[in-house]
Amino acid sequence: MAAQRVQPKLIIHGGAGSSLKGKGGVEIVRRSLHRVLEEVYPLLLSGATAQEAVVKGCQLLEDDPRFNAGTGSVLQSDGQIRMSAALMNGVAQRFSGVINVSRVQNPIRLALALQESPDRVLSDIGSTELLRELELPPYNPLTDIRLQEWMHERQENFEKQMAGVVAERELVEDSAGRGTIGVVVLDDQGRLAVGTSTGGKGFERIGRVSDSAMPAGNYATAQAAVSCTGIGEDIIDECLAARIVIRVVDGLPLREAFERSFKEAYQNQRDLGAIGLDATGAITWGKTSEVLLAAYHTGNAIGDTLEWEGTDLTDGISG
Ligand code: GLY
Repeated sequence: MAAQRVQPKLIIHGGAGSSLKGKGGVEIVRRSLHRVLEEVYPLLLSGATAQEAVVKGCQLLEDDPRFNAGTGSVLQSDGQIRMSAALMNGVAQRFSGVINVSRVQNPIRLALALQESPDRVLSDIGSTELLRELELPPYNPLTDIRLQEWMHERQENFEKQMAGVVAERELVEDSAGRGTIGVVVLDDQGRLAVGTSTGGKGFERIGRVSDSAMPAGNYATAQAAVSCTGIGEDIIDECLAARIVIRVVDGLPLREAFERSFKEAYQNQRDLGAIGLDATGAITWGKTSEVLLAAYHTGNAIGDTLEWEGTDLTDGISG
């Protein structure tokens, strides 16, 4: 018997960090995020699976040089780009990912290729080997703005702990931030999937591993799916994505699972954000950082969190 069709839902993020206000950033980021929603949501209406829509959304965000993933990734302390990405299929409850991969346009494609593999999380050497096997052409994701940002920080002896959340000339100088991209989808068969992709924190030491390719930063079951952004070490310490999802599996509504988890993260002085969906279609987001660059499609309307302010740590729309 065919599964009953449900209204697809989609939420994406392009990082979290300090405010973009007054820097010309809000409208630029809004356009970028809304464009992705406008391209991916119709695919869901045409029957794309949650996993297919997640991969497409991640590719589009990775290809946008503004965000710290794929093209436009930040440079590490040695001036190299190393990217990480993960994909989790909620129905199969199956995680796959790559850690610290270079010279590829879309790290999420490697995570997709690993979904059906017996070895599902690869580090740098394995990821490079996989790139070759898949015959993906070598690609340099470096942008001028990220190079300038790194050169500026080198002059300052890398005193800043992270690169800017969004790559914009007018934002580079003073935007301490925490960029990453993420996509969470509920498809018309009620299936959930999530993907997260990042260039890392920027200026980090060689070999540092991001939360984005761990269940701490990207996790899904049949009941809920969550993608995180922010300082990876803070996300790992909270085990945030898995923590929220497991709370839903144990019976808490998604919004309450976010509220409880973000209260704990705030008390622990973490700097992070997250987006999530559950199988009822509830859309939720949360942040302890100043701003969360997220946008969503409810099926009836598009909205975003770019100007979401106040003291609440979470917000959302019920299913
Ligand atoms: N959340 C991205 C990173 O810290 O690498």
